Amino acid sequence: MRAGFHPPVPRRQTTRTITTAMFETLKALNPDPILGLMAAYRQDTNPKRVDLGVGVYKDEAGHTPILDCVKRADELHHAAETSKTYVGPPGDPDFNTGIEQLIFGADHPALKAGLIRTVQAPGGCGALRIAAELINRAKPGAAIWVSDPTWANHVPLLGDAGLEIKTYPYYDAASQGLKVDAMLSALAAIPAGDLVLLHGCCHNPCGVDLKPAQWDAVATLAVERGFTPFVDLAYLGLGTGLDEDAYGVRKLAASVPELVVASSCSKNFGLYRERVGALSLLSPNAAQTDIVYGQIQNVARGVYSMPPNYGGALVGRILKDAQLTADWRVELASMRDRINGLRGQLAGKFRERLGSPRFDFIPQQLGMFSFLGLSKDQVQRLKNEYSIYMVDSSRINVAGINQQNIDYFCDAVCQVL
Ligand code: LMR
Repeated sequence: MRAGFHPPVPRRQTTRTITTAMFETLKALNPDPILGLMAAYRQDTNPKRVDLGVGVYKDEAGHTPILDCVKRADELHHAAETSKTYVGPPGDPDFNTGIEQLIFGADHPALKAGLIRTVQAPGGCGALRIAAELINRAKPGAAIWVSDPTWANHVPLLGDAGLEIKTYPYYDAASQGLKVDAMLSALAAIPAGDLVLLHGCCHNPCGVDLKPAQWDAVATLAVERGFTPFVDLAYLGLGTGLDEDAYGVRKLAASVPELVVASSCSKNFGLYRERVGALSLLSPNAAQTDIVYGQIQNVARGVYSMPPNYGGALVGRILKDAQLTADWRVELASMRDRINGLRGQLAGKFRERLGSPRFDFIPQQLGMFSFLGLSKDQVQRLKNEYSIYMVDSSRINVAGINQQNIDYFCDAVCQVL
């Protein structure tokens, strides 16, 4: 054969008889209820389209910006980085220290006593998943109680690791508030050894948060009943403020012997695609702290080995530098204030149009999300007739509203009511 000459490869038959098919048992799936909206919105050519679907912050121009403090940390990171060798299963040490202090407060007694250990994870989802794997290792098939409703992805992230998902009452559609009595009664009946998943702040999807006195009641029940709280903290700083939003997690860490906290830097640092999250575990004594820390690294090793470094390194750098931290707090406050301002504006505009307080609940809620209380059919009409995208449950991402689309949005909602 001539050097460099390769005979054409015969075309493969398009249909083949397969005797040992592995994947033929799999069924086609519908698009993800949240991520599917992103794709549908991108294909929509209507110049008036409005994206209130996936939970990403947008500025007044409808853009999801890179924070200035992140850009500066990125420059410093590139100037300082001399190697791409592995960092190790726990991830960036500055990140882990910074995140712990942010979540619990630098002076928290449990932190000072060395009873909390944190590992970096690939996003809040990665943290949720390795926590679930660890729990399943400690107590196979353990039951975890989630709020009704909860973020749709909690179910596969926790359930596919082997945990049994149960629900406790939470959102009251009639009052657009918390079913506080029903929730506390349900928690009071949870068997010792089960887990309870709590949204640390900015509840996803309903925006209804626990007040400090309600967190106190949950902490008391956790101690009395012996269930383990598991806090998902994906929106820290986007509700009322960094310390205010951490009230519940800090209270629990001061009350219970064991606590699981999955946190994310997607929203508050705007690092979505870099997948930056953390898992923090509180244990009752030093010996167990060490065991749990070793086990969680071993779990991570078996799932993804080590977390990606870049995003965690940026957050670690910001939280280690007083000036960058101060700048980040200002940028975070401006995102939070914009969302809270839009909440007030939406309620006002709906009141003007409807002459009723129907949407006055919007400014009572916190974080990126609220349920509008529309039917699935009304949500479909908004999409098909107005190119306004939201989750089928009528969850809107408030940050997708701006001064260009707010009137269009409010008019369209009033049309479909
Ligand atoms: C959301 O709820 O929209 C966000 O947390 C993004 C996601 O992954 O679902």
